Amino acid sequence: MKVSIIGSGYVGTTTALCLSELGNRAINIDVDEKVVDSLNNGDLHIYEPELEKLLNKHHNKDFRATNDYSSVLETDLTFLCLPTPSKPNGEIDLSIIKNSAKKLGKTLRKKDKEHFVIVKSTVLPGTTEKLGEIITNESSKELGKDLFLGMNPEFLREGNAVDDFMEPDKLVLGGNEKTRNKLKEIYRELIRKTELFETDVRTAELIKYANNSLLATKISYANEIGNICKELDIDTYEVMDAVGKDHRVKRDFLDSGVGFGGSCFPKDVKAIKNKLKELNLKPKVLKSVLDVNEKQPIRIVDLLEEKVNGLDGMKVGVLGLAFKPGTDDVRNSQSIPVIKELKRRDAEVIAHDPKAIKNMKEIFQNIVYKNNPKELVDSVDGCLLLTDWEQYKSLEIEKPCIEGRRLNNCRGICW
Ligand code: UDX
Repeated sequence: MKVSIIGSGYVGTTTALCLSELGNRAINIDVDEKVVDSLNNGDLHIYEPELEKLLNKHHNKDFRATNDYSSVLETDLTFLCLPTPSKPNGEIDLSIIKNSAKKLGKTLRKKDKEHFVIVKSTVLPGTTEKLGEIITNESSKELGKDLFLGMNPEFLREGNAVDDFMEPDKLVLGGNEKTRNKLKEIYRELIRKTELFETDVRTAELIKYANNSLLATKISYANEIGNICKELDIDTYEVMDAVGKDHRVKRDFLDSGVGFGGSCFPKDVKAIKNKLKELNLKPKVLKSVLDVNEKQPIRIVDLLEEKVNGLDGMKVGVLGLAFKPGTDDVRNSQSIPVIKELKRRDAEVIAHDPKAIKNMKEIFQNIVYKNNPKELVDSVDGCLLLTDWEQYKSLEIEKPCIEGRRLNNCRGICW
């Protein structure tokens, strides 16, 4: 099938290239000309190793990128894979996706055949329907007649995006029967090996939030138990290994540490928490999930401060800036509040990351960056290890150090 994918971020590019791999022809549309040129030249603009291989295989063949919305007219179905960031008050910011829906609607005015629009971005229940209204108003198409709307959330982890797409735990297809059947055609190869959840659009929207906020809840819960363990000198990982053996719990996402970051969990938990407020329901669990997560960066700085007897004027090394290993992404990385807190306490920050220095330089211009972690360790009074990069495992750290991710180089925030 011919499909267009609007948005060339992690989700959009992965969706486009994986759909090519599944036998479809994919056109990836993005407003950023640099990204478009780079994709058409076979250069991936993000760090995602398996995706790079797919780009090499499909660019100039079943995959191409463009900034021209009219390319949509060559396709049967469009996926919307645009960012839905948080506003400063935690509410979801729909301006990018609404703008895109408007442009898409205007373009579809020129199409006399039916068209399918599938939202893949994470949006709160009711949003896909609102986007549908924008598209019908702009295109003069009629919902259910020549315009079909669906919601198909993604569950892709950065660094594992291709695997998660190709070997999914589940596929959630939201929409009417005709839309779901269209999606089943596209995902034919995947349907054979996974479980299918066919729902209405709103249910599909909520599944994504319920899924991500439960994972975030597991992490904050593990951190709260981890904080108790630290005080009582108990190994929290030993505790969670045993707890995780209960098949009703599962061990995944019970690794305690400096808290969760990334482009999804913090934003999604905030958005669903705000939705509760909007519905006059008081958020309790999700509020605590965010509270614990906000406190962990302060806690790790407190622990180092105790160890080195004050941070004022101290040289502190930060090992790891990406929100997790295997990515150059620093969005909502817990290293950001940690660095802010270190600076607030007048420490001199010296940072290293194997992939994310370039991105972090856009956030902090006034800290020192080192390319060699060993040199960094030698030059500081103490350090914090925040991302569990494989190469940090062999690092000998003889300075006072607290781990925010378990690597066993030194004692950690919860161990
Ligand atoms: C997440 C979801 O997993 C994915 O399904 C969703 O669609 C997008 O958001 P991602 O943000 O790439 O994916 O990262 P993930 O691997 O889930 O980790 C998120 C954060 O939680 C990271 O900061 C990670 O270090 C932290 N984490 C994870 C923990 O602190 N402890 C754990 O046990 C697991």
